[in-house]
Amino acid sequence: MEKVSPALSALRDATRALHEQLEASLPVASRDAGREEFVCYLQDMWGWLATFEKRLWRANWPEALVAPARADKLAWIEQDLRASGMAPAEIAALPVAGYRPALATAAQRFGVAYVIEGAQLGTRVLGRALAPALEPWSPRWLQGYGDEQAGFWRSFIACAEAELDTPEARRDAAAAAADAFASLAAWFAQRQRLRVGCN
Ligand code: HEM
Repeated sequence: MEKVSPALSALRDATRALHEQLEASLPVASRDAGREEFVCYLQDMWGWLATFEKRLWRANWPEALVAPARADKLAWIEQDLRASGMAPAEIAALPVAGYRPALATAAQRFGVAYVIEGAQLGTRVLGRALAPALEPWSPRWLQGYGDEQAGFWRSFIACAEAELDTPEARRDAAAAAADAFASLAAWFAQRQRLRVGCN
């Protein structure tokens, strides 16, 4: 049994219900999802990340977290969208959520980054489910950190535990994570309402 640490517990408790709701409502997570649902999912993730990913990772992070290696998941998604047939200009013109989280404190940054780094865990599960429908395509987004996934997650959590060492810091990080999840869920819902297909 994994030893649960206080920061991780706070982040999980604040976001568990939102995650369950996402998993239950996302077309890409449904049993019969295929290429179309996956490409729509990528487009929406791109539109959510686009307005803050650079700012998030440009901030002051502990060296042990190796922020530069985590910092450009938009590039992973762009690689996949191009492979799906989209031109760079079409990708650049995708609708964006306009999410601009507060990132002034380390607690806020860890909360938002938890959502993005944690998503890589679920992505592995999603990748296995989608593999038969996507073959022979092996999208970059679904490869995530590959064999280094467990190490990336462990070092992220170790840094989070070291940084979020007071109840106030953990409360602020949890609030930031919940806010990020809520914005993503609202964005997915908005896109689903407007889009024809993927529903
Ligand atoms: C697309 C459908 C999704 C599925 C099927 C899914 C599934 C999962 C699964 C199975 C885990 C646990 C993995 C493990 O412990 O090894 C997980 C963890 C997580 N997922 Fe998702 N997920 C999905 C989407 C997302 C999205 C869109 C986000 C946010 C951007 C997200 C954020 C997280 C976080 C933060 C965790 C870490 C929880 C923790 O251990 O503290 N997931 N997901």
